Amino acid sequence: MSNDIVIEAWNTVLFEKFSRFKYLFIEGYASISEEALKRHRPPEGSKVLDVGCGFGDCTLELARFLGEQGVATGVDCASNFIDECECSAKDKGIGNAHFFVADVEVDDLRGPYDEAFARFGTMFFNMPGLAMKNIRSALKPGGKFTQVVWRKREANPWLHDAECCVKEIVPVISHDDTDAVHCGPGPFSMAGPDMVSDMLQATGFEKVQFERFDTDICIGRNMEEAVQFALEIGPAGEIIRLAGEEGERLKGEVQVALEAVIGQFEKEDGSFWAPSSAWFITAYNPY
Ligand SMILES: C[S@@+](CC[C@H](N)C(=O)[O-])C[C@H]1O[C@@H](n2cnc3c(N)ncnc32)[C@H](O)[C@@H]1O
Repeated sequence: MSNDIVIEAWNTVLFEKFSRFKYLFIEGYASISEEALKRHRPPEGSKVLDVGCGFGDCTLELARFLGEQGVATGVDCASNFIDECECSAKDKGIGNAHFFVADVEVDDLRGPYDEAFARFGTMFFNMPGLAMKNIRSALKPGGKFTQVVWRKREANPWLHDAECCVKEIVPVISHDDTDAVHCGPGPFSMAGPDMVSDMLQATGFEKVQFERFDTDICIGRNMEEAVQFALEIGPAGEIIRLAGEEGERLKGEVQVALEAVIGQFEKEDGSFWAPSSAWFITAYNPY
């Protein structure tokens, strides 16, 4: 199965959406990766691969921990993200962060690495087994892979409630019934520990462990931003986009319904913070 459709989506519509809400992705997710890297900090001087690096904020953070002797390398299938990463590294004067474009499922990942890390970078693979195998092959013997993925839908109401709300109004078009580009399996594809641990073991990883981490994340600095974020990002945004003209026509109705759903997350200062729940998954390449 070719990844062309997914890669095109990440380079076009999804890159544009992520760029529009870059602040929320970088600031909103920072507390999650900070905790993951506090618990699973790679040793100074090591070589670490950041899988599906997006804007590269985790790669730059890793580069800072690793020190001058270490190297953080970000990989992403979308060249638009990698261009941004290279600019950020240059602007911040970080010399030990490097980036390259590759499809993690099939391309050479330029190892060997001491460790690999991924914050929400592994949930959108069409063929996750292939990707896990490729990542393991790029690790040194004994190398560690730390992934951050979303836990179940119900524990992430900022995505799930918005999706349920949109589904009540907009007809759902499946990926098989459209020529439109799409994001692949979606944010909850790695939420099930049984499936994911079986897959990691089947692709040769050992000592698989799951740690749950719950925290409130900022989903908007005001009502307008929070509703637009819900309208555009995640499963809700994907349903509207794939519904085409009908999705566009119903957007106003969805917006009103979302205001009621999102309203529950408003704080006293007018910003919006919602509960979120993630897994930190660690696994090792055997010696
Ligand atoms: C939800 S974003 C996460 C980005 C970043 N890690 C973060 O936490 O902000 C998922 C990223 O995975 C990348 N991606 C999806 N499929 C990929 C593949 N097959 N190979 C490499 N990167 C991929 C996308 O381009 C996107 O940047």
